[in-house]
Amino acid sequence: MLRDAALKVQKNAYAPYSKFQVGVAIKSENGQIFSGVNVENVAYPEGTCAEAGAIAAMIAAGESKIIEVYVIANGPKPVPPCGGCRQKIAEFADPDVIVTLSNLAGDEEKFTVKDLLPGVFTKDHMD
Ligand code: THU
Repeated sequence: MLRDAALKVQKNAYAPYSKFQVGVAIKSENGQIFSGVNVENVAYPEGTCAEAGAIAAMIAAGESKIIEVYVIANGPKPVPPCGGCRQKIAEFADPDVIVTLSNLAGDEEKFTVKDLLPGVFTKDHMD
């Protein structure tokens, strides 16, 4: 289950500066699950989001199509992907793919990729 995979890694996130640990799990087309966490850096802009880590693991494994996404963190409300991560997800997921936002309390909200990034920039805009 994607929640279990995201929850399992969330506590390993390296977030000494924000203290906000995020875990992400994505399922690729062949059913494999890849997870990632945020990895912060003392040079703050060098930190990476959990989504980036999960996507990198998927690509390294030779998969490139996301069919489901789950994001979890210890916030009062389900945690949404940042703007940049919405664009990163959109690179590999169809517009109707479900992205579940959640928190440790078990609250969940579901959106599609299209909901999260209306007017997405695509390669069609460069033709
Ligand atoms: N963060 C993520 O890793 N993913 C999200 O979806 C939201 C934000 C991280 C970035 C930073 O390390 C910390 O959360 C606080 O912004």
